[in-house]
Amino acid sequence: MTTSNPRIAPPLAPPLASGVSVPRLHRVVRRRRESLDVVSLELAAMDSTEMSFRPGQFNMLSAPGVGEVAVSLSDAPRPDRLLHHTIRDVGAVSHALCASDVGDVVGVRGPFGSHWRVPERAGDGDGAHGIRGGGGGGGAQRGAGNKKKGRGGGGPGRVFVLVGARDPDQILFRDDLDRWNGLGAHVALTVDHAAREWRGPVGLVTTLIERADFDPPRTRALICGPEMMMRQSARTLVAKGVATRRILVSLERNMQCGTGWCGHCQLGPLLLCRDGPVVALDPALSDLLGQDER
Ligand SMILES: Cc1cc2nc3c(=O)[nH]c(=O)nc-3n(C[C@H](O)[C@H](O)[C@H](O)COP(=O)(O)OP(=O)(O)OC[C@H]3O[C@@H](n4cnc5c(N)ncnc54)[C@H](O)[C@@H]3O)c2cc1C
Ligand code: FES
Repeated sequence: MTTSNPRIAPPLAPPLASGVSVPRLHRVVRRRRESLDVVSLELAAMDSTEMSFRPGQFNMLSAPGVGEVAVSLSDAPRPDRLLHHTIRDVGAVSHALCASDVGDVVGVRGPFGSHWRVPERAGDGDGAHGIRGGGGGGGAQRGAGNKKKGRGGGGPGRVFVLVGARDPDQILFRDDLDRWNGLGAHVALTVDHAAREWRGPVGLVTTLIERADFDPPRTRALICGPEMMMRQSARTLVAKGVATRRILVSLERNMQCGTGWCGHCQLGPLLLCRDGPVVALDPALSDLLGQDER
């Protein structure tokens, strides 16, 4: 079938390769509890294959006998070739993945989808601006931050990392935030509900955007979190002068095949397993995500 709509990519070849339609077995080699309900797993391929991916992409992870879910790669490609995934325990499959221990086997299909388009060299033009909010997620962005290595100082390539979380315990990857801060990135945190010992601001992540001293025409924003928060962040960025095509959001929908075949992840003309999850927030997409807040 042909289409005249330039937003719809041509059909893909049938997904038959191992690792795309058939999970590759991986062993859990490290497990780290990030918070009360969030666990990071580091996975090694049992057949020693190496996965090539870009930050922002996702894998379909399967817990044997339970099911399969989409999970972002939560680090950039590393010399040890391990895959890093960070999972919140919210349902049957995520619970089984979070409960898996060192030595357990996890199925991996992927990588799938689009990525954050992080410039290869620090200082390649853009000011970058990572925003994460709502429940303190951000696995999808962590790889982009580690690839960009928190470049700070002035001029092009400056990095702003703005994090909103429900409460201080929900702020993930604090070691990374400290490291990026040490490297000169502008790191700012805010929470919805503060414990007594919290010394930082309380409020929405949009207040951090309003205060951040970035150069709007040079800024590219990488946003992940609940859609309401991403829409409000985008509105604040646009009000500051950032072009919508420079605002990237990571969208989550029901992923099944991951390869553009089943249609479960459709959003308007987009299949988000293939055309997303990272998409530029152009006006057509803003319409699809809801107009009520403009
Ligand atoms: C591109 C993409 C990337 C993703 N990356 C990650 C990731 O890095 N880490 C991760 O933990 N999950 C991620 N998800 C979500 C993940 O795919 C599952 O939806 C989630 O793990 C729940 O699956 P489940 O079968 O365990 O729970 P389900 O049985 O599907 O859901 C149980 C309950 O939790 C709610 N729920 C579902 N998903 C979430 C959620 N993300 N947060 C809060 N409540 C939820 C459901 O509405 C339901 O009430 C991603 C999804 C997509 C599409
Ligand atoms: S998950 Fe099947 S088409 Fe996207």
